[in-house]
Amino acid sequence: MKRAISAILMALTLISCSQNRPTRIYHVGVSQCSDDAWRTKMNEEMENELIFHPELQLSIRQANDNSQLQCLQIDSFIAEGVDLLIVSPNEAEEVKPAVSRAFDAGIPVIVADRQVTGEKYTAFIGGDNYAVGINMANWLAEQANNSHATSDQPLQVIEVMGLQGSTPCVWRHKGLLDGLKNVKNVRLMGSGNADWFAAPARVVTDSLLHLYPETDAIVAQNDIMAIAASEVVEKVLSANEIDRTKNTRIYILGTDAMTGPGGGVEAIVQGKLDASVTYASRGDMVIATAAKILHGAPYLRDTVLPTMLVDPSTAETMHLMSREIAHYVATITALQKRITTLWNVSRMQKALLYTAMACLIVLITLLLVLLSDVRYRRHVRLERAESARIVAKQQQQLEHITAELERTKASMSAEEQFMQRLQNQIEKHLSDSELSIEMLSEELGISRTQLFRKTKAFTGVSPIELIRHVRLRKAQQLLRKTDSTIQQVAYEVGFSSPSYFTKCYKEFFGTNPSSEHSEKKDN
Ligand code: FRU
Repeated sequence: MKRAISAILMALTLISCSQNRPTRIYHVGVSQCSDDAWRTKMNEEMENELIFHPELQLSIRQANDNSQLQCLQIDSFIAEGVDLLIVSPNEAEEVKPAVSRAFDAGIPVIVADRQVTGEKYTAFIGGDNYAVGINMANWLAEQANNSHATSDQPLQVIEVMGLQGSTPCVWRHKGLLDGLKNVKNVRLMGSGNADWFAAPARVVTDSLLHLYPETDAIVAQNDIMAIAASEVVEKVLSANEIDRTKNTRIYILGTDAMTGPGGGVEAIVQGKLDASVTYASRGDMVIATAAKILHGAPYLRDTVLPTMLVDPSTAETMHLMSREIAHYVATITALQKRITTLWNVSRMQKALLYTAMACLIVLITLLLVLLSDVRYRRHVRLERAESARIVAKQQQQLEHITAELERTKASMSAEEQFMQRLQNQIEKHLSDSELSIEMLSEELGISRTQLFRKTKAFTGVSPIELIRHVRLRKAQQLLRKTDSTIQQVAYEVGFSSPSYFTKCYKEFFGTNPSSEHSEKKDN
């Protein structure tokens, strides 16, 4: 029974072990600087990647483009004791202290997209912002060449920049300047910070256009600002707000080139933008790196993601493909949901199965206990019945023995009585030599045959012999105790002839009666 139960338990353990549940959960804090379509995409990429890392639990907080709030949020992650921190810092210098605190507290820190100053981080994953700037410069050079711009009449460019203290803003600008260094027919007329938002971008574009009404191209450090700039351009030109001698259109270049509705690629297809430079978010890669760090696996400390230019020639394809991909992603998401539902159902079924098995084990155990109890009781009952039977048998035997004893006692006393009476009768008529069997049987009130049978049974001799033996024993007594002669004794004990007496005496005792006399005299 014990072996059966342990086998079932072992099976249960094996089944439960095969559930693939993570043995340890890692809490990962994600500090996002902002909340826009690009961030949403990055967050989704991170969350989708968790399918492959169920041991990771994400907690995402966004700082509303406020570096102080972001520092507070990072400090709260530290206080909560997260196992790893992912930070996309709003501003490099302002957020650095909080990131350093986390790093110094022993929490691995992955810096994503925007960077912090200093070296206190575990890994970095983000786009190549300098290359973004270079791409911008190359595109501008191309536009300059296409429009036959010269060093005397260069392509006039204004720049709408992101948040001043953020590294993408710094590096994209630097890349742009470096890229344009040797391009003589492109001139960057002016730049203004719009903090990555549409509303400030409108203000910046408007004022720069009023400052540089002959602007030929606008480069914006993200598509949100580029689309806002395109709206301003349309408004300013259609309303003839600026003194412009040219009737050429103003080219607009954005950054991010996100696919999907409202993204840069769609804006190119719609003609709102002329081009955009890709800027990957790769939240999936960030999570994969986090898992590697947490599991102590080797990882790359700095991963700089490549970037490329998207113009109308590639945008259409990208747009179509992204719709296809979006369709597949939707299908995969639906499938994933279905799998999750099925998985939950199967887990529930498993739980039910375990419960049922546990109940079964309990039932079997109870049944076995009950069975052994019943067996024990039956055994006890049988044992009791057996001992009762033995006791009854012994009692019966005892009764039998007692009855037998009683009977023997009774028969013994009857025998004794008979012998006593026979003895008395013989002794009474001892001197009578005429004492006969008839006389005795008459006196005792039984037949001759009965007398013979009983005497023979109780003494082993016939009545005649018994009479003779009694006579001879009496004679011996007399000879020993009295001075009577052998003759006198012979007659006294009923012998009619002394010589016959002497013969019988010798036969019975082995000695002569005279020897009793001489023994007495000797004494
Ligand atoms: C999103 C965003 C992107 C930009 C990036 C720079 O918040 O503004 O548009 O490329 O951040 O960090």
